[in-house]
Amino acid sequence: MCGIIGYIGKKQAYPIIINGLKKMEYRGYDSYGICVLNGDDVFLKRKVGRISEESSENGCEGFISIGHSRWATTGGVSEKNAHPQEYNQFYVVHNGIIENYKELKEELTLKGHIFSSDTDTEVIAHLISEEFKGNLEDATKKALKRIIGSYGIAVISPKDKGKIVVAKLSSPIILGITDDGYIVASDPSAVINYTKQIVTLDDNEIAILKEDGYTISKDKKIETIDWESDAVDKGVYEHFMLKEIMEEPKVIESAIQGRLLEDNVKLGGLELPKERLKKTDKIYLIGCGTGYYASKVGEYLMEEIGMVDAEAHMGSEIRYRDVRLNPNQTAIFVSQSGETADNLACLKKMKEAKVLSLGVTNVIGSTQTRETEGGVYTRCGPEIAVASTKAFIGQITVLLMIALFLGRQRGLEEGKAKEIITELKNISKKGEIVLSEAEEIKKIAEKYSQYKNFFFIGRKFNYPIAMEGALKLKEISYVHAEGVTGGELKHGPLALIDENCPTIAICPKDSVYDKMLSNIEEVKARKGKVIAIATRGDKKIKEIADDVIYIPETLECLTPLLSAMPLHLFAYFFALALGKDIDKPRNLAKSVTVE
Ligand code: G6P
Repeated sequence: MCGIIGYIGKKQAYPIIINGLKKMEYRGYDSYGICVLNGDDVFLKRKVGRISEESSENGCEGFISIGHSRWATTGGVSEKNAHPQEYNQFYVVHNGIIENYKELKEELTLKGHIFSSDTDTEVIAHLISEEFKGNLEDATKKALKRIIGSYGIAVISPKDKGKIVVAKLSSPIILGITDDGYIVASDPSAVINYTKQIVTLDDNEIAILKEDGYTISKDKKIETIDWESDAVDKGVYEHFMLKEIMEEPKVIESAIQGRLLEDNVKLGGLELPKERLKKTDKIYLIGCGTGYYASKVGEYLMEEIGMVDAEAHMGSEIRYRDVRLNPNQTAIFVSQSGETADNLACLKKMKEAKVLSLGVTNVIGSTQTRETEGGVYTRCGPEIAVASTKAFIGQITVLLMIALFLGRQRGLEEGKAKEIITELKNISKKGEIVLSEAEEIKKIAEKYSQYKNFFFIGRKFNYPIAMEGALKLKEISYVHAEGVTGGELKHGPLALIDENCPTIAICPKDSVYDKMLSNIEEVKARKGKVIAIATRGDKKIKEIADDVIYIPETLECLTPLLSAMPLHLFAYFFALALGKDIDKPRNLAKSVTVE
């Protein structure tokens, strides 16, 4: 949701904070703020709007600073509600939610405190002020004891100079170690231009950063992030989303690199839980948004290749359900950020029931990777656009490898495994062929850009891809789109089909091809327009569909990787034609750290 950042060191802090906020803007972009300390002087700026417009040049002097990019939760979008929040010269930036802030506010008001914002965060500054006896970390520790909720915070004050106090509970915080000082941030994208050495804070830990060192309650491992610094720039592309879609073939390459054997896969993060995985008789795949649709593809992969029962669930739902959990089950959490609160709440439930927990995660050092017992990184590099694209491709690739691993434990034939692995090695080249058709896909997207309602249909492996295609379109272009199975079309959605409601049908040559053709006929019979995603060389489809986007032939279980790519491009070009704010769609945030 929000992004927090802080710097203390030998360099001027202002440009580091502004640049870091720009890199983290995707976490929240309705307002921002910065506070710089220079001896007793305090510079405070809070603004409504986008940080991208802000120059990092004309700042102010000072070597200690904190900053924040906001995605409003408590208190509307306004200057007074932007962070840093301040009281009595205690300055706080916060990501998370203080659940008992109303009670605390009442209590403090009775004591004579006057509040100047509608935020929950402001109570932290007031509590610190109440507890302050000369030492900022002691006061912060005491203040946090009163708080119920989640937080990643950074606190500074001219009353206790030369330090930033940082604390975390259920909200991510990393510390970047540079040659000239320390940067604290909500995620690595803010520090990557300065350092690749990071330390990740755990829940309930407090760090005190000074110019010449840092202390955390216990010794922590320094990790190295393998992201390239140019990965957080748009490069030649107009939008991050297009750049990230174009990286999809590379993402597959990077996910499989060093992990494929001739008839099996080698996944370091599954070595320890290997024996428990052998005994697993059910897999839960859990994700939100795009992560859920990747989980849904995973469900089919686990059953067909992994030879094990599997169920995909949304993190926000399964945690309230009375599913029978036991230690012979495995829960795989699928998340780009590794910080999605709905998933993390569910992870707690799974651990309490002693279900083996694994993560398929992109962000190194994220809560999900630290709290699960094993897992596999997707190695996609930073994903900046709010709508997830390349992470989806990485997630499916990794889930396929996990399915292969499970399948080989359960009697998946050597020949079948070899066949899939051989094709997996080829699939990124086929992905490049799909993306080389971008101009064609753009024309089709422009042709349909005036329509306001869409159905996406697919079956089996491509049913989740239909849902993913619809999600992408609605997220960034704000038109209504629904993904359904081809089979369900006649059980309701067909009532909406007419010449004004086009259908995007995913129908590669696979085991459900004939059934999909019948569904397309059903749409055509109601005067609905059809855009088909079909296998290269399929002439039949050309006769029925209004437009066809071809993908190369591949194994059925690998088609989702290729069919998702044109749908990502379609959504992108559609939103481009409508002139939408593609990388930062209204009302959405990339990392959803509240339930
Ligand atoms: C938000 C984003 C989506 C993303 C979902 C899950 O809703 O806007 O693009 O799919 O969160 O995020 P995760 O980091 O868990 O994959």
